[in-house]
Amino acid sequence: MENKSPKSGFSGSIGFVLAAAGSAVGLGNIWRFPYLAAKDGGGLFLVVYLLLVLTFGNTLLTTDIAVGRRTGKSSVKAYGDMKKGWGFLGYLTFFVPLLIMTYYAVIGGWVLKYIVAYITGQWEAAATDTYFTGFITQEAAPIIFMLVFLAVTVFVVYNGVEKGIERFSKFVMPALLVIVVGIVIYSLTLSHEGADGVTRTGLQGLKVYLIPDFTGMTAGKFLNVLLDAMSQLFFSLSVSMGIMITYGSYVKKEVNLNKSVAQIEVFDTGVAFLAGMMIIPSIFAFTGTSGAGAGPGLIFVSLPKVFAQMGPVAGTIIGLLFFVMVAFAALTSCVSVLETLVDNFMEIRGSKRQPTTLVLGVIYAIADIAICLGYNVLYGEWTLPNGGTAQLLDIADYISNSFLMPLVSLLSTILIGWIVTPKWVTDEIETGGVVFGRKKLYNIMIKFVCPIMMLILFLQSTGLLSLFIK
Ligand code: PHE
Repeated sequence: MENKSPKSGFSGSIGFVLAAAGSAVGLGNIWRFPYLAAKDGGGLFLVVYLLLVLTFGNTLLTTDIAVGRRTGKSSVKAYGDMKKGWGFLGYLTFFVPLLIMTYYAVIGGWVLKYIVAYITGQWEAAATDTYFTGFITQEAAPIIFMLVFLAVTVFVVYNGVEKGIERFSKFVMPALLVIVVGIVIYSLTLSHEGADGVTRTGLQGLKVYLIPDFTGMTAGKFLNVLLDAMSQLFFSLSVSMGIMITYGSYVKKEVNLNKSVAQIEVFDTGVAFLAGMMIIPSIFAFTGTSGAGAGPGLIFVSLPKVFAQMGPVAGTIIGLLFFVMVAFAALTSCVSVLETLVDNFMEIRGSKRQPTTLVLGVIYAIADIAICLGYNVLYGEWTLPNGGTAQLLDIADYISNSFLMPLVSLLSTILIGWIVTPKWVTDEIETGGVVFGRKKLYNIMIKFVCPIMMLILFLQSTGLLSLFIK
């Protein structure tokens, strides 16, 4: 079947893989993955995550990309095209990027702020306890940084799939990889004598990261590790939010999807793994801990302290490189979110790329300003159904990641597994005689394992599971 819509697209397999990897590699890989690994027993989390990537990750990513390429549409139209009556799932999916876009640029702005801080020699100030909260609670500064980040995103999307996104990703992704590897090497060669007179090295920190820690492990805790790894997995692969459907719709029929999926997974998981190798050993060398306790403050609060301990020169260079790399990762992700919105709107309204991008840019500038103000003028402390305390940003994040994404995954696996049947997807993967080696596994996963696990994940992340299991 040929793509029906006369869409623009990626020039070939490499452009597609790098753009999709650009979407996948984001804050989740650099900040959330190392923090979860430190919290969930080091090597144990790594093994669990790897097994899930090869099974769940592969199934969900294959599905999204195949849905996009076979229908040639973005989510809003794709599901309805696939099966009459399922258009609602397209809209539900569409809500995820719609929400994510309200805050991703805000976090992107925070990253830019740290780049400026290191450029202007504020390596010591950035390491103080109040630097981060002092910044986000200001009224104007976070808005300005957010607008710069958003403007770059709009610029890339405005230029189109091949000339904008593909070209940008082909430059940014290799650069990101080089920086990550550079910082990993530096971090593994660290050696520091702490205030307690003990010398700790990066290599000792590496052991903390890699060796599985089963202390205090119970069945309930293991279930938590499993669910942490699973929710991390689909946030990290950008699946179940329509992004990979949109990117899939830009892929030519000659491209071997089976191979591309594997390459995207290797890139995404590789960067997450390396991020752990860069962060955990350096935190360990300077503090003697794994960083597990740092939680969300890991990259904006704990790491600047570690950079400061490296001294003015090394601290400034490593701090700057680190935040440039994070900005690259966040930009390519934000681009993929905006692109998905633009493409959906173009399909719904039949509008053109440039005006659609500009209008969405203005709307999101306003929405993101509101989220920035959530830390001062609009400050509030709301309680989420799972018990957490939230500001505006956390509410948007909760609805999209903890509620909608597992729900979308659950419904789409039911649709593919039981209604249109997995053959709909496997035929697309096998286009042009491609051998789909994991076809049997795919069938089992999509019909049985995924729906069950997605249901459990949905109950857990919404807080409903605790009603059943104490
Ligand atoms: N996959 C990205 C990450 O790992 C996150 C992301 C979320 C990207 C939503 C796009 C949209 O951080």
